[in-house]
Amino acid sequence: MKIISTFFFLFVFLLPILASSSNKQVYIVYFGVHKGDKESYEIEEIHHSYLSSVKETEEEARASMLYSYKHSINGFAATLTPAQASNLSKLDEVVSVFESHPMKHKMHTTRSWQFVGLEEEINTQLHFQSENSEGLLSRAKYGHNVIVGVLDSGFWPESKSYSDDGMGPIPKSWKGICQTGDAFNSSHCNRKVIGARYYIKAYESVYGPLDRKLDYLSPRDKDGHGTHTSSTVGGRTVPDAAFMGELADGTASGGAPLVQLAIYKVCWAIPGHEKVDGNTCFDADMLAAMDDAINDGVHVMSISIGTPKPVGYSQDGIAIGALHAVKKGIVVSCSAGNSGPHAGTLSNTAPWIITVGASSLDREFSAPIVLGNGMVIQGQTTTTFRLDNITHPLVYAGDISLPNVTQELAGQCLPNSLSSEKAGGNIVFCLRGNGTRVGKGMEVMRAGGIGYILGNAKGQGEEVVADPHVLPATAVGEYEAVQILNYIKSTRYPAAKILPATTVVGTSPAPFMASFTSRGPNVVDPTILKPDITAPGLNILAAWSEEDSPTKLATDDRRVQWNIYSGTSMSCPHVSAAAALLKAVHPTWSSAAIRSALMTTAGLKNNNESLITDSMGNPADAFQYGAGHFRPTKAADPGLVYDATYTDYLTYLCSLRMPGFDPSFKCPQNLPKTNDLNQPSLAISKLSGSVTVTRTVTNVGKGRSYYFASVKPPTGYKVNISPSMLIFRHKGQKKSFSITVEKDVYCNSQASGQEYEFGWLTWFDGFHTVRSPIAVSSV
Ligand SMILES: *[C@@H]1O[C@H](CO)[C@@H](O)[C@H](O)[C@H]1NC(C)=O
Ligand SMILES: *[C@@H]1O[C@H](CO)[C@@H](O)[C@H](O)[C@H]1NC(C)=O
Ligand SMILES: *[C@@H]1O[C@H](CO)[C@@H](O)[C@H](O)[C@H]1NC(C)=O
Ligand SMILES: *[C@@H]1O[C@H](CO)[C@@H](O)[C@H](O)[C@H]1NC(C)=O
Ligand SMILES: *[C@@H]1O[C@H](CO)[C@@H](O)[C@H](O)[C@H]1NC(C)=O
Ligand SMILES: *[C@@H]1O[C@H](CO)[C@@H](O)[C@H](O)[C@H]1NC(C)=O
Repeated sequence: MKIISTFFFLFVFLLPILASSSNKQVYIVYFGVHKGDKESYEIEEIHHSYLSSVKETEEEARASMLYSYKHSINGFAATLTPAQASNLSKLDEVVSVFESHPMKHKMHTTRSWQFVGLEEEINTQLHFQSENSEGLLSRAKYGHNVIVGVLDSGFWPESKSYSDDGMGPIPKSWKGICQTGDAFNSSHCNRKVIGARYYIKAYESVYGPLDRKLDYLSPRDKDGHGTHTSSTVGGRTVPDAAFMGELADGTASGGAPLVQLAIYKVCWAIPGHEKVDGNTCFDADMLAAMDDAINDGVHVMSISIGTPKPVGYSQDGIAIGALHAVKKGIVVSCSAGNSGPHAGTLSNTAPWIITVGASSLDREFSAPIVLGNGMVIQGQTTTTFRLDNITHPLVYAGDISLPNVTQELAGQCLPNSLSSEKAGGNIVFCLRGNGTRVGKGMEVMRAGGIGYILGNAKGQGEEVVADPHVLPATAVGEYEAVQILNYIKSTRYPAAKILPATTVVGTSPAPFMASFTSRGPNVVDPTILKPDITAPGLNILAAWSEEDSPTKLATDDRRVQWNIYSGTSMSCPHVSAAAALLKAVHPTWSSAAIRSALMTTAGLKNNNESLITDSMGNPADAFQYGAGHFRPTKAADPGLVYDATYTDYLTYLCSLRMPGFDPSFKCPQNLPKTNDLNQPSLAISKLSGSVTVTRTVTNVGKGRSYYFASVKPPTGYKVNISPSMLIFRHKGQKKSFSITVEKDVYCNSQASGQEYEFGWLTWFDGFHTVRSPIAVSSV
């Protein structure tokens, strides 16, 4: 598994090489659900007997077992040869056998909650915990009595985000533990972080025993990612938080500042990757953590982790673990991934998961450039290094390459590509591309440059990631990059100054979709629309590990309590926090009802009252933002919900020809279509003729209400809703309707040249807007 942040892309490609270096691999052998008729020692014995059947000796069988999953998930993880794995997979009772893939993922904020209309309340909470305010936060008691489990790289217990001042007691029902280890003892758990555990067996079976200089063998976070994500979900309200004491200053708070957190450390530093952000997480370790988290008693799981490439549900540890969680009513929220802007890149595609994309906030870290000709160009950075207030010579990196390096490579400021003679004393302009953004700054510094401007390359648009560069620097969008290059080309003595960064809030348009956010269609099952929703994931401030530098470069010896970070890893915990608040307000709602409420109330407009765009300014679509941008306060009162049960998901899996997840469940004779699953969205691929699906909505609003359907059909299609009016007489009442989609013969459906066309179905009762995205393709 991989941590989903955009900070460094390199490691994604390195991981598979490392993991496949031996012919014995960690496999997960999955049997579905426990029937509940066995003691835990019996389960372990049964798992051993399966292992013994393919191993030469009893001893070998014992030694190869990593985990026996005993609580809810029935299965085990063991080191097997491909032949042994294949033999086990042939057994009837085995649902699937799959390699424990390494994954990768990432992290919180001051601005986000105000941006979605929650922060007014967070600020007031500092002074008086108002009970009578009408807002969601106070109705949800800031998440009081809700437990959120975070699977990540651990946490930094000394951060003020984890203070338990004034927190309620640990619930009696809580079964979790505080697992001691390196620099971590029972005093590091409290009434805020009520549980902390770590899972490392699969990691160690690939990389050998953990190098204790690289990471802590304990729930303590050396990386920063887990501290960022967990403090985003449920960090306490901390006044005067800022990056390096200067930027994004204000009150930092998790979205649900009074939830209790349970930390499950499943991601570990990769040996040999000390210089780059190398952190990995394995399916087998994550499944053990999820099995424990379900049993410990969490209500929400926040998982900013995903496979580098989409995988089928029966081969996907997170999807399997999440299905078991959803059976117990636990909401599972996951990041969509950072593999955008290409289509079909998203991971965590199972319909029972909330899949979260990433978009911008209305905040920038403005550090403008003044060119020698007086022209002012907008740039962004979080670096606190400053140039003096005078103009310095400006050079394009491609023009100052070493003799053995091409202009194109040098233009990207890759390591050892710039000539010191030519860079010395200059501000160097580099383009994005290969290499890390902060690493390019390191190269400029190595070559003696005094300042660094990072420009977006062709196709990257106006999305600028603000980085804490190791020297005076700023970063600009694609349009500005072209302006600077043209200026350098057209001037005899190009020069510039970089002004120091200041925090600007209220920038527009916001939100826009991050270019890195992974996109639909869902390649695992194109009849399930993904992602579900978007939330802030660009330049987010949250707590950080004091053992890591803000750039994650080993050569950077700065240490910070707060860091600004980007990725769908940062957007996922925003939605996890919103789910926790909804759980507090509506404790009986299912996981599907909470997901539906978040989705059908999501927003489609930016703060300029126009439709949300991508980072290039083009209209964004449901394959980027799902149902839209989350609006937690509206989600507390959605009017109607599209509910679904664990049994509905098993039926769906039958339709997908992936039965067997639950041995006690018999697939129905007449299987529904996969897109009959009661999702608050609809995706149809390869439409020929017409398709009719059914949906059922549950009235969770006022008792008596009348809802009317309206449709914005995808271009070239007709959509018919029947009936188009629903009358509810009481709360909890369910009503079904059908959606028929067919090609509009009077309209050329290929008019736009797009494979998919997008539309909306909206139910409206005069007060609640219940909106679902529709995606249709006929090819
Ligand atoms: C797998 O099963 C085949 C056929 O039963 C057997 O010949 C082979 O030895 C088995 N391999 C392992 C590794 O158990
Ligand atoms: C736990 O660790 C802290 C230092 O981080 C130390 O002060 C304390 O004595 C330790 N407590 C126990 C019970 O070992
Ligand atoms: C920087 O210089 C410009 C003119 O060269 C001046 O207007 C500005 O006030 C100076 N800024 C600071 C912070 O000294
Ligand atoms: C280019 O040559 C220099 C020595 O002149 C060397 O240090 C550097 O690593 C080389 N760069 C690349 C990219 O090969
Ligand atoms: C980055 O590296 C890859 C692999 O070496 C290469 O295919 C690609 O063209 C490079 N991209 C740029 C922008 O140089
Ligand atoms: C958004 O609105 C602001 C203020 O209303 C305006 O200055 C800005 O130009 C608008 N931006 C776009 C992209 O329309």
